[in-house]
Amino acid sequence: MNDDRPELARQRDLDQVYEPAEDSHLLAETAREYVTADDRVLEVGTGSGYVATALADTGAAVVATDINPMACREARDAGLAVVRANLVEPFRDGVFDVVAFNPPYLPTPPEQEFDDWMERALSGGEDGRAVVDPFLDTVRRVLAEDGVVLLLVSSLTDVEAVRERAAAGGLDAREVADESHPFERLVVLELRPDRR
Ligand SMILES: C[S@@+](CC[C@H](N)C(=O)[O-])C[C@H]1O[C@@H](n2cnc3c(N)ncnc32)[C@H](O)[C@@H]1O
Repeated sequence: MNDDRPELARQRDLDQVYEPAEDSHLLAETAREYVTADDRVLEVGTGSGYVATALADTGAAVVATDINPMACREARDAGLAVVRANLVEPFRDGVFDVVAFNPPYLPTPPEQEFDDWMERALSGGEDGRAVVDPFLDTVRRVLAEDGVVLLLVSSLTDVEAVRERAAAGGLDAREVADESHPFERLVVLELRPDRR
């Protein structure tokens, strides 16, 4: 790690970065099965860089993004190529073989929102899909031919509504992994361009 700032300042930054949890593990394990060494891979919303690091271990060329500058710093310190970005905005059309995203998905009423980076890691707005929906509307553009998206969602996010939105954006969705927890079921959706 390459960070000479005082320990307290660094700790304050880390408190604003999502720590890998069950959802991170499920996405990393599932997405690894899709990646080969000559792929170009994008992880959106990398947080600490946990998922991107697991995907880079395959030998693939991995780029990670986050909107949170402290997450970008942490992921860069972990040795990743990182771009601070909103979703897939800065990338050219048709470049990625695999795109992975563990988005903020917790439904959060407006009165419970508080404005910090950890909130932006967790909160999916009132229906849980405030970040998922614009991702689904734009991700197809950056996919290479035969490219695939692995998107983690939760039963709290309404998986059927996510599939419908994906279809509206020209993506066919199918569940490829899931894991049950006391209050939710985590699901990984595989999304591929609808060729019809
Ligand atoms: C649930 S955390 C997942 C972090 C990490 N990928 C993991 O699985 O451990 C969601 C991440 O998405 C980032 N994020 C939220 N909105 C974003 C956006 N519009 N564009 C890029 N990243 C975003 C957050 O800052 C946060 O790091």
